[in-house]
Amino acid sequence: MKLLFLNGPNLNMLGRREPEIYGHQTYADLEAFIRNVCAEHGVEATILQSNHEGALVDAIQQAWGIYDGIVINPAAYTHTSIAILDALKAVSLPAVEVHLSDISKREDFRKVSYAGMACQATFAGFGFAGYEKAVVFLKERLGK
Ligand code: DQA
Repeated sequence: MKLLFLNGPNLNMLGRREPEIYGHQTYADLEAFIRNVCAEHGVEATILQSNHEGALVDAIQQAWGIYDGIVINPAAYTHTSIAILDALKAVSLPAVEVHLSDISKREDFRKVSYAGMACQATFAGFGFAGYEKAVVFLKERLGK
């Protein structure tokens, strides 16, 4: 099983960014966590982070025919990007949304997730473990 992991804007600032919300671990730690989880589950992983909406859209479009599924934390674009929603719908690969924090318990503007409308599941508020939950979910869903 091949999965594409996409992380949106400011997630490269993990460790420095609002540690009371996102913790002290860095983006490099998150990548290492995802790689370990994927190795344990026999999943081939590509991990990308971008601060640019169009780059995330391009990556989603290019995933078609290459990956079995997408794990996406669109970060702030979660709450604004119809382009990411449309890209996920366009490729119609099984997708799972992950958020480190529990977006349902934060500001009202974080309660809407456009990307989530094209995802089969959302794991929010579990920190890094949300990515593992997404891998397990997709493995079960894809029967791999
Ligand atoms: C986030 C939640 C978003 O609301 C926020 O804009 C982020 C990170 C999370 O992982 O908790 O950048 O996606």
